[in-house]
Amino acid sequence: MEPPTKKVFVKTYGCQMNVYDSERMGDVLKPLGYAGTSQPEDADLIILNTCHIREKAAEKVYSELGKLRRLKRQQAKSGKEMLIAVAGCVAQAEGAEIVRREPAVDLVFGPQAYHRLPQLLARQEASGRAVIEAEFPAEDKFERLATRSAAKGVTAFITVQEGCDKFCTFCVVPYTRGSEFSRPVAQIEAEARRLAEAGVRELTLLGQNVNAYHGADATGEPTTLAGLVAALSAIDGIERLRYMTSHPRDMTDDLITAHGENPKLMPFLHLPVQAGSDRVLKAMNRGHDAEHYLRLVERIRKARPDIAMSGDFIVGFPGETDADFRATLEIVREVRYAGAFSFKYSPRPGTPAAEQPQVPEEAKLKRLHELQALIQAQQTAFNSSCVNRTLPVLIEKPGRDPHQLMGRSPYLQPVHLEGGNTLIGRIIHAHITGVGTNSLSGHYKDAA
Ligand code: SAH
Ligand code: SF4
Ligand code: F3S
Repeated sequence: MEPPTKKVFVKTYGCQMNVYDSERMGDVLKPLGYAGTSQPEDADLIILNTCHIREKAAEKVYSELGKLRRLKRQQAKSGKEMLIAVAGCVAQAEGAEIVRREPAVDLVFGPQAYHRLPQLLARQEASGRAVIEAEFPAEDKFERLATRSAAKGVTAFITVQEGCDKFCTFCVVPYTRGSEFSRPVAQIEAEARRLAEAGVRELTLLGQNVNAYHGADATGEPTTLAGLVAALSAIDGIERLRYMTSHPRDMTDDLITAHGENPKLMPFLHLPVQAGSDRVLKAMNRGHDAEHYLRLVERIRKARPDIAMSGDFIVGFPGETDADFRATLEIVREVRYAGAFSFKYSPRPGTPAAEQPQVPEEAKLKRLHELQALIQAQQTAFNSSCVNRTLPVLIEKPGRDPHQLMGRSPYLQPVHLEGGNTLIGRIIHAHITGVGTNSLSGHYKDAA
């Protein structure tokens, strides 16, 4: 491999799957002599790894591109060439339109095409013109990706499943990420083993619909997510496993059972329901009603009573009445979340709900505030319930102050405590003494 001669700056928007992809783009570029930089001014190549999920997310990209155009011009004046690439879900959704709106862009490629970056860069260099790759190539990106570099941290993401066949009427993901695909078990195991050898102790398995995972085992038979979790639990050094995001329709019995039986599977579950009104759930094409979700949560809690529930909510979906919104508040009250994300509905081009009459902006905003206040109160209540308890904490990194460390509880809460750097990568018992807005504080008790 050549020593690094060029620099790449990657800016990541959107979900953890984009975080994973950005890291892997770095791996793909390494053999071409690229090292990463955190300074756009130093970069020969700038990649915006974009998100299309809501209008705001997509528009951010264009304002960033405006700034980059000016930087590119400045660099050119001092004789330095700088390439601008747009990757990710906006690239997939808008393709050539991006170059039309912002001619300073040199490369556009979707989430399934970044393993072909070397060829795309070569094509750009040869032609001197923008290169756009937003088709879904049939070949397996994961098969062709360079080996993952040694990890730097204690925790890591692994994409195990990609794409979505659910077609919720508000969502762009089935269009930007394509149909469901699961990586084979052995491929994921190999990646996990390398990470474990490099010091990773906690893996988060990622997928747009991660619990729909059905990757092939050694005999070619499909394996459920519970089966994959069991296989990864057997790897030396892997102490904790998490997964996200799950769909209520794919929460299989074996996965629920695993929560009760596998001590490495952490008691935290991100299981979005989106809304509490059956009418709205139907219009969203979620494929289940509120009752189904509540019974599911009940069963999961029976298997693992202390599980921390998290979710996503959309307010102001087309046709949502005040009564419908009350049903969302009701389901939140019944579930008692440890935390959740909530969004105002954002009409997305090409999705069925975007064609429907829209809820006025003021109503959306009012509902969002009311829902967020309720969720925040539940989050505070959950965090407060941890005070005076002793929790196993995986120490991840140094904290902000000297002698301070940051780790995470089984429930994914950040925990701040005093201690030396030798504890990084270890699971310790911490006595929890206080709560911040989104975190806990405590002190070291003993090794777990
Ligand atoms: N696969 C996951 C979520 C993917 S997108 C699932 O099925 O739940 C992450 C979250 O963004 C969604 O859960 C939803 O709450 C929100 N979201 C998606 N499309 C949206 C839209 N058009 N407007 C507002 N929020 C949206
Ligand atoms: Fe989008 Fe629905 Fe698929 Fe989740 S399940 S990614 S919300 S279409
Ligand atoms: Fe956004 Fe694409 Fe993820 S639209 S949320 S980056 S799958």
